[in-house]
Amino acid sequence: MNKSHFPVIAVCVVLLWTGAAMAQPAKPSQAAGCESCHGAGGDSQKADTPRLNGQQSGYLLTRLKEFLDPTRGTPHANKMMWENATTISANDAAALADYFRRLAPPRRSGIGAQAEAGRRIFRQGAGPAIAACATCHGQDGEGTGGTPRIAGQHKDYVMQQLQAFMLTARVGTPMNHHAWDMTEEQMQQLAAYLSNN
Ligand code: HEC
Ligand code: HEC
Repeated sequence: MNKSHFPVIAVCVVLLWTGAAMAQPAKPSQAAGCESCHGAGGDSQKADTPRLNGQQSGYLLTRLKEFLDPTRGTPHANKMMWENATTISANDAAALADYFRRLAPPRRSGIGAQAEAGRRIFRQGAGPAIAACATCHGQDGEGTGGTPRIAGQHKDYVMQQLQAFMLTARVGTPMNHHAWDMTEEQMQQLAAYLSNN
């Protein structure tokens, strides 16, 4: 190696190393507890536990606050999340929301006739009562601000939430009236389109 090149190469190595370190967001200490249920890197492998990787931070924060009010959550959410939500400070919640938001998001994998029917409802709505989901959740279900990413979520979890909105077990959101008019088949189609199992 030409000696005059050494400083340039050293700087490049440091820059590459810093770049690699920045690709993985810094992990807050409480995240390990969350990941014991929500999976390593938030990529849950349990069908009834939502993926948090790539989730919108505004939504994550809203949801964490909602778990503090048992009248707003499903019995399952109250059982699983009450203790977690009550033990984190606002600062820690913000750090966790930022951490999960920056992890690589899951992808949709739904294919086949059922998913195709779901895609149509997602983009165009169905009848006068069911609005196009894409209007709020984004063209590909990526979400924005307080509206959640739903692309790449577990099929069972999406079904459970749509049913909870329909039964008004999860309340106070714009989702209830969309779900009231859905048939079981339409829910299955939407979940098949959005999910990655
Ligand atoms: C004991 C297991 C468990 C632990 C630990 C846990 N969660 Fe959860 N969490 C769940 C389950 C199960 C649900 C789904 C509840 C339902 O059915 O609505 C959930 C739901 C959530 C949701 C709602 C996601 C969505 O898409 O609406 C957020 C946000 C969340 N958890 C964040 C956290 C954070 C942050 C931590 C760590 C401080 C944490 N969770 C720890 C089990 C857990
Ligand atoms: C008017 C805007 C709007 C429309 C249209 C809409 N949503 Fe939502 N959706 C929301 C908001 C906001 C939330 C978060 C509610 C909360 O925090 O409780 C949500 C939550 C959800 C959730 C729960 C996600 C989670 O991680 O727990 C699912 C599933 C969902 N919507 C599916 C759909 C589907 C399928 C459609 C189309 C039939 C649709 N939404 C149409 C705004 C909308």
